Amino acid sequence: MNAPTSHTDDFQQLTLALSKGRIFEETLPLLEAAGIRVSEDPEKSRKLIIGTNDPNIRVIIVRASDVPTYVQYGAADFGVAGKDVLQEHGGAGLYQPIDLQIAQCRMSVAVSEGFDYARAVRQGARLRVATKYTEIARNHFASKGVHIDLIKLYGSMELAPLVGLSDAIVDLVSTGNTLRANHLIEVEHIMDISSRLVVNQAALKLKRLRLQPILDAFASVAGA
Ligand code: ATP
Ligand code: PRP
Repeated sequence: MNAPTSHTDDFQQLTLALSKGRIFEETLPLLEAAGIRVSEDPEKSRKLIIGTNDPNIRVIIVRASDVPTYVQYGAADFGVAGKDVLQEHGGAGLYQPIDLQIAQCRMSVAVSEGFDYARAVRQGARLRVATKYTEIARNHFASKGVHIDLIKLYGSMELAPLVGLSDAIVDLVSTGNTLRANHLIEVEHIMDISSRLVVNQAALKLKRLRLQPILDAFASVAGA
């Protein structure tokens, strides 16, 4: 029979929330700097809870946009999430101590090559904007005094102007290859995006002794 878990043991356990793909890949060197090695590749194993070389640290694999929610409610003690995701979530219950400077890109407005964006904005007609990032888009156009009709999408935003669903999109741009491949042009740069370490506010107090060395290791690599 297993020995009952003591209250003290609970304070030793740490759960890190990561999403598959670029966040997972780009967080591995940071974990390595903290002496943490994951025991499996989530792309291959399909497991959602992955162990590490430290029996008290585990990684859970969630959708990128769900990372703040798991950390907010304490189902994960800490996680890594893009600034885009954090702005959409709002950041309640989260402490954001470190810009990890990974998964770097920018949030932009883009339109079809032939669309006169400056004229559309000047004329003051309502602009139809398709995006997954509705909070960011709403705030951006409100600050410019531009009236928009927001169309919520969950992916492949670049398609929307091509088939007449919208006049413009708000989406992430990195190399610009996706825009170019679809004959779209970037007409406004809304903000630079990178990923942040997010920590549950209660965990930061209760598990500080366990968390702090990991935060320090992450910060030393992020700043390098
Ligand atoms: P979800 O699975 O929740 O729909 P997603 O598909 O946006 O999210 P990823 O593609 O893994 O998830 O992106 C994770 C994060 O990486 C984004 O939140 C963003 O901050 C950043 N990112 C997205 N696209 C790029 C890119 N092309 N280059 C660099 N960073 C990017
Ligand atoms: C993101 C974003 C764009 C693309 C921009 O999508 O929504 O579609 O990346 O990157 P680019 O400017 O380098 O083309 P997603 O994460 O689906 O794309 P990826 O996995 O192919 O980078």
